[in-house]
Amino acid sequence: MKMLSLLFPLLAIALTEASQTPLNVPTVPNDSVQLCCTALSEALPSLVHLPGSAEYEHQQHTYFILQHTDIQPSCRVSPATTSDVSFIMTTLTKHSCPFAVRSGGHMTWAGSNVVGGVTLDLGRLNEITVEEEKGLVKLGPGNKWSSVYAAMEPYHLTTVGGRMPEVGVGGFFLGGGISLLSFQHGFGSDNILNYELVLSNGTILNANASSHPDLFWLSNSEAQTSASSPALTFAPTS
Ligand SMILES: Cc1cc2nc3c(=O)[nH]c(=O)nc-3n(C[C@H](O)[C@H](O)[C@H](O)COP(=O)(O)OP(=O)(O)OC[C@H]3O[C@@H](n4cnc5c(N)ncnc54)[C@H](O)[C@@H]3O)c2cc1C
Ligand SMILES: *[C@@H]1O[C@H](CO)[C@@H](O)[C@H](O)[C@H]1NC(C)=O
Ligand SMILES: *[C@@H]1O[C@H](CO)[C@@H](O)[C@H](O)[C@H]1NC(C)=O
Ligand SMILES: *[C@@H]1O[C@H](CO)[C@@H](O)[C@H](O)[C@H]1NC(C)=O
Repeated sequence: MKMLSLLFPLLAIALTEASQTPLNVPTVPNDSVQLCCTALSEALPSLVHLPGSAEYEHQQHTYFILQHTDIQPSCRVSPATTSDVSFIMTTLTKHSCPFAVRSGGHMTWAGSNVVGGVTLDLGRLNEITVEEEKGLVKLGPGNKWSSVYAAMEPYHLTTVGGRMPEVGVGGFFLGGGISLLSFQHGFGSDNILNYELVLSNGTILNANASSHPDLFWLSNSEAQTSASSPALTFAPTS
């Protein structure tokens, strides 16, 4: 009972502070963002979604935290391939556009959406390839753990993944990743063998223990949004 009476005032303070910091600060998109959204729409018309379109509104309403829906980017882009990501990064860099990267949209604080900028929604990068003989699985960052476990289950394999089905693969690994198997196998990211990365100048590269090891170790710690990672390869655990 003592605990409860202590907890309530603390909760009240936290709520008051949160409501004084609105997430939907109105921002007039600047010229560079308009240039980015226009250039991307012209090159990748089916992948760019503007406010008011059904796909934009749908994606805005699939964040875990409701307040993220109020963070309105000037356009949302849904790359379907690594080369789409490369083209998008080149365009964003050319015009210095603010951007955000979203995989599963499960982060509880702001980061995977951006007021007045460009949001890359990686939901279509949802490859799951189990290479049973090599003991590997290749995962697109836009997957949710529910799909990954379902795809691995027929092989009687699993891996060091999220504890909740709706968490996204991308953010989980870039934040380290605490799994039900972590006591035996460490953080989720300890099990990654290769990251396919897109740099801000559009370069696509593999980062692993022998190729770009500096970027490999960076990705294993805190790469969130410093590079966009379309595909991850890691070792499954039987
Ligand atoms: C209900 C719930 C249960 C959870 N359970 C667990 C758990 O069991 N274990 C655990 O470790 N964590 C857990 N978390 C925390 C969760 O793993 C992190 O919030 C993680 O960042 C979510 O990843 P996401 O892809 O869904 O999120 P997003 O919001 O899409 O992304 C999170 C961050 O990573 C960045 N990012 C995502 N993908 C990429 C990419 N491909 N390239 C560059 N940057 C990228 C985004 O920009 C953002 O900053 C849980 C969270 C919730 C809400
Ligand atoms: C638009 O925003 C970008 C990124 O914040 C900035 O570099 C650029 O100078 C801005 N452009 C204008 C016209 O304000
Ligand atoms: C992109 O950046 C990387 C890392 O700085 C560099 O090695 C590469 O040459 C650059 N590519 C282009 C096309 O500028
Ligand atoms: C590491 O990157 C190199 C260069 O792209 C690639 O040939 C190799 O297959 C990668 N290793 C793994 C484990 O993916």
